[in-house]
Amino acid sequence: MQLGSGWAPGKAILFGEHAVVYGRPALAVPVLQLRAQAVVTPGDPGAGVVIDARDTGERLVLRAAPDDHPLAAVTRLALAALGLGSPDWVVTVSSSIPIASGLGSGAAVSAAIVRALAAAAGQPISSIGVSELVYEVEKLHHGSPSGIDNTVIAYAQPVYFVRGETPQACTIGKPFLLAIADSGIASPTKVTVKDVRRRWEHDPVRFEALFDRVGAIVGAARMAIEGGHPERLGSLMDRNHDLLRQMGVSSPELDALVASARSSGASGAKLSGGGRGGNLIALVTEETASSVASALRAAGAAGVIVTMVG
Ligand code: PMV
Repeated sequence: MQLGSGWAPGKAILFGEHAVVYGRPALAVPVLQLRAQAVVTPGDPGAGVVIDARDTGERLVLRAAPDDHPLAAVTRLALAALGLGSPDWVVTVSSSIPIASGLGSGAAVSAAIVRALAAAAGQPISSIGVSELVYEVEKLHHGSPSGIDNTVIAYAQPVYFVRGETPQACTIGKPFLLAIADSGIASPTKVTVKDVRRRWEHDPVRFEALFDRVGAIVGAARMAIEGGHPERLGSLMDRNHDLLRQMGVSSPELDALVASARSSGASGAKLSGGGRGGNLIALVTEETASSVASALRAAGAAGVIVTMVG
């Protein structure tokens, strides 16, 4: 018998990563074909909450799980927020979002668990409520995240995000296609965020100017997306990538992948997320999607998905 269930999508940052930490806007979209799901069913009497993570083969008894285990942490936070003690429930978690690849797998699993527990408790929870709880878990792992990942994943819709402000929905005037490629290089966001911080402290004038230029690109991108002119996004991606390079968060591998996307027909490409590894995104069309995806794989991408935005 199912007591409750919840899901959340993967995500990609379109524009504005890193500058968003310093108060500039950013745009992010859900990747709806990748999903995390959680289902709550009754467990053995007296066992408390047990988390069954299908993808990693882990089975966690909550009362014995370490404090910093991400699945245990979100479950404890959600149970406390919902005013539940230790119900005898099994939470089964599964996800099609590749782990540690910058597509938001951790935040999506957390959001799915929060939603499933709220449903099992018969307490509806708003997207903002989910987002806030997931943010608490993100803080445990990433220090001081801007909040864009938990926001886009909890709202499951494109967002225009400014740190500390209520997120705004970004309407898609005309759908467009993105190729999202995984560089296959693990690069913790915490490290690149810290490096940018160090460089900003060393040369605040230069970095504030870089962030301002990113902010202007985000504004232009929002207008293009909402106004139904996604074809304008390609050159904006190229410019944003160049600014991320200047911040020091690209890498020779990412630059090579970006170049291969452009030379195989993408109208623009950039790294997406923390950088130095992780993902890049490229603007493609029905005509160019498969040649760009093949070129990216040939250039060393560990995986490529093509997704429709809008
Ligand atoms: O690495 P990701 O995809 O989680 O993106 C991080 C985005 C940053 O702007 C680099 C950090 C943040 O907290 O917003």
